Amino acid sequence: MDLRHLRYFVAVAEEGNITRAAERLHIAQPPLSRQIQQLEEELGVSLLVRGSRPLTLTEAGQFFYSHARQMLSQTRELASMTKRIGTIKRSMSIGFVASALYGMLPKIIRRFRAEHNTIALSLHEMSSIEQISALKEGKIDIGFGRIRYEDPNVRRIVLREEALVVALPQEHPLASKATLSLLDILNETLIFFPQAPSPNFADQVLAGFRDYGLEPTKIYDARDLQVAMSLVAAAEGLTLVPGSVQQLKREDICYRPLSERKMVSPIILSTRLLDQSKEIELLIKMIYRIYEEDNIEYIRH
Ligand code: BEZ
Repeated sequence: MDLRHLRYFVAVAEEGNITRAAERLHIAQPPLSRQIQQLEEELGVSLLVRGSRPLTLTEAGQFFYSHARQMLSQTRELASMTKRIGTIKRSMSIGFVASALYGMLPKIIRRFRAEHNTIALSLHEMSSIEQISALKEGKIDIGFGRIRYEDPNVRRIVLREEALVVALPQEHPLASKATLSLLDILNETLIFFPQAPSPNFADQVLAGFRDYGLEPTKIYDARDLQVAMSLVAAAEGLTLVPGSVQQLKREDICYRPLSERKMVSPIILSTRLLDQSKEIELLIKMIYRIYEEDNIEYIRH
């Protein structure tokens, strides 16, 4: 017995007449009668009272009819729900620190939208620490930050580590040097950012100085990266930024590498610990694919 038998029997029961049922089913009458007969033979019971006009159902026929109707309607629902799940618009909400915009983030987003156009993306700028609570509250599904922050409910992957560079006014005397050391800039006004919340990139840079036993003397706290860069352009001081920020080209600012190799800023991907959604895995795979294609050094896990 298959679904076709159920459809045929329901049509006969509802029409009370083989000819009309055959018309409704768009088939000829003899094959319909044969199928009903086969069904009765298979079940070993009569479903129709022979010779009745209109055709009436035996007790077994009534039982079979009501269950067959239910099963057919469940089958239709199964088909429509499956179609909906297949075409449903999926979404992923991404939190990121502003400096990630100078790295690979724009390319990753463009590529993801092009390759997975059924997944709606939304982007939210926020600090690394804000990303942790936003993940736990379900406001974002994935975060790109720069601070190593331990949380038992968050999975953290360090994607790569970017060398820090010094951004300084074009006319600054230190601009004549090809490479700068922390000692070179120690007594300059250093513009740190952001101001809050802690721990943040400013804490990371300060900790970097301290790892070399150095303590900057003149610190200016800027609200964010943009403000820090504008203050450098105004010749108010120097700032340290992740290497990718060099994409930001201005006539009044130049960049110099640091000789201290350990002065780096990581790019950290965070997700909820138990979130195994397909969208996240697709994005992670895409990031590594882009690193490979663009020959970008990354941390293999
Ligand atoms: C990157 O620059 O490597 C990067 C930035 C944001 C998200 C993912 C990767």
